[in-house]
Amino acid sequence: MKRILVIHGPNLNLLGKREPGIYGKVTLLQINNELKKIAKKRKVSLIIKQSSYEGEIVDLIGKMKNKYDALLINPAAYTHTSVAIRDAIAAASVLTVEVHLSNIYSREEFRQKSLISPVVKGTIMGFGPKSYSLGLEALIDLL
Ligand code: DQA
Repeated sequence: MKRILVIHGPNLNLLGKREPGIYGKVTLLQINNELKKIAKKRKVSLIIKQSSYEGEIVDLIGKMKNKYDALLINPAAYTHTSVAIRDAIAAASVLTVEVHLSNIYSREEFRQKSLISPVVKGTIMGFGPKSYSLGLEALIDLL
């Protein structure tokens, strides 16, 4: 059975309450439950983590070798700032899909660059919680 790690970055634990006009009313628990349903149906194992700490995310990615076959990540605000997370993904050389609830290119200028996109297989954004399900399905198809 293929093993997929899901990482939710900072503030995504607040989904549902956080800026609902931008991120919607769906909670992280609901997103995770939908991902678990897909994993069950498609017969892959899923481990889901949320962290607001850059170093912890770097460590999680660094320890993926021999434990996971793919990574689904929403780096949240670190998308725009974290050379460390980008380098961790590049070093892990594991199949990775980046997702965002919002379309970062339709938002403030400081969000209109992802340091992560150049080192991942693909990026899905702008579809709200559906970005996650599309990203997971894409990963499973590729595995
Ligand atoms: C986000 C977009 C980021 O700019 C922001 O900092 C987030 C969430 C998204 O999913 O749309 O926290 O990654």
